[in-house]
Amino acid sequence: MLALLDEINAENEKVLAGGGPKYVARHRERGKLPARERVELLVDRGAPMLELSPLAGYGTEHPLGGGMMMAIGQVEGTECLIMANDPTIRGGSQSPVSVAKALRGYEIARINKLPLINLTESGGADLPFQSQIFVPGGATFKEISRLSKNGVPTLALVFGSSTAGGAYVPGMSDYTVFVKGGAKVFLGGPPLVKMATNEDADEETLGGAEMHAKQSGLADYLARDEFEAIALGRQIMRHLRMSRPAPDGATGPDPVYDLDELLGVPSVDPRIPYDIRDVIARTVDASEFEEFKPLYGANLVCGWARLHGRDIGILGNNGILFSEESQKGAQFIQLCNQQSIPLLFIHNITGFMVGTRYEQGGIIKDGAKLINAVSNSCVPHYSLMVGNSYGAGNYAMSGRAYDPRFVFSWPTHKIAVMGGKQLAGVLSIVRENAAKASGRELDADAEAQARAAVEAQIDSEQTALYATGQIWDDGIIDPRDTRTVLGLAMSAARGNPIDSERGYAAYRM
Ligand code: COA
Repeated sequence: MLALLDEINAENEKVLAGGGPKYVARHRERGKLPARERVELLVDRGAPMLELSPLAGYGTEHPLGGGMMMAIGQVEGTECLIMANDPTIRGGSQSPVSVAKALRGYEIARINKLPLINLTESGGADLPFQSQIFVPGGATFKEISRLSKNGVPTLALVFGSSTAGGAYVPGMSDYTVFVKGGAKVFLGGPPLVKMATNEDADEETLGGAEMHAKQSGLADYLARDEFEAIALGRQIMRHLRMSRPAPDGATGPDPVYDLDELLGVPSVDPRIPYDIRDVIARTVDASEFEEFKPLYGANLVCGWARLHGRDIGILGNNGILFSEESQKGAQFIQLCNQQSIPLLFIHNITGFMVGTRYEQGGIIKDGAKLINAVSNSCVPHYSLMVGNSYGAGNYAMSGRAYDPRFVFSWPTHKIAVMGGKQLAGVLSIVRENAAKASGRELDADAEAQARAAVEAQIDSEQTALYATGQIWDDGIIDPRDTRTVLGLAMSAARGNPIDSERGYAAYRM
């Protein structure tokens, strides 16, 4: 586990280096602060901060981290979703990864009712990739607007360029602060204006901070410098009457077991099973866990505990899901909904049981009951990916597509429709059958090669790093931080303790 963590931390170091020494030095020479320093100045001293999706884009051709920092931090005692473009990376331009990361950020702000603070300095769309950005990117403006409609304030502190689509970040926000001499906000910069209308315009007259403060009215506050812009952002947060509960620093007794032992609970070999209670015992307050129906459907461990003093219902996998596990899980989720208790799903699941006996026993309809319960549950869900998360097991355990408030992974996480060996084997059998049906002989060597190639491809696409690169989670965490990270996530979710729609679809019995 420590070796896996080293690999992940090496990637985190790359993100901290931004666009590299040359661009960071140039940025500082211009008298500007790096994105992370802006965020550090904005948040309350000593308050915890939870960074989200730092390794978005891993394994893609786009800059690691999506060229922006995203975190939940406290500003004037209110938890906020903060996004900060890193202008040292391709001018802060937005790649397809940046768009996907921002959309997840807006979703987190919306479902948890977190005020949004954008620290803007961006060259807009990463132009060579415009075809992958333009259509999905449109939703970013909509999300900012809908936050405001739902009573969640949105702030844009504009430090530098904010061109074209980027101009709508302040354009759609409730409050805007522009840095004098820094912010440059226009639908089209001077070259585009020249092309479109043949007008010769200079940047300051076209979109400078003073112009927007005195003439267009897009800037609500004009800041002398970056420090004052951050101070103004904090001042705005001070006057807001938020319906969010203030962070209460809730806490509870530490687990009685040593958290360091979490490093040794899962094997790096995903086939080796372990007792999920060993994870629970090192996560919840005082290691106290009231288990529900321990003798029935024993492969799905369900029960109640407290985490940093807050109630939580936990579902954890101890093996494959059979009909009994599915029914027990569905019942447990309903009980937690009845009492408005949030749910933590701890994934180590290879899927539902297959085979004639189980199909005849109705495994599909029992699995559907669990998926129905998960889909329509209205308490906050948190997913913790400690090991495998395969097939419909991922869905039944409130995987990313089931709108959990947050998803965090351990380095030992694996995610796919099924394991590489199984998938390659299935394809191989399909090819064999097709060859038999057409009376062809299969070339054994070519078949073995094809099978190995598929297995290698699937194995490389199911790692925790690959998954976090695709933003299937909100970040990979050190197992020893699990309790802290979940505590911060639960605190952030308190602004919206229950989703508005209650009730279930008809159950197939
Ligand atoms: N798409 C892709 N790459 C971009 C980019 C964009 N929108 N904006 C900047 N970059 C790249 C530059 O090509 C440069 O790459 P290089 O170092 O490999 O040559 C790097 O980012 C830094 O850009 P640079 O112009 O040197 O930085 P700057 O700090 O002096 O200026 C901007 C930053 C954003 C003001 C300026 O690059 C700019 O005006 N970009 C275009 C903005 C625009 O019109 N966007 C339209 C979006 S729809």
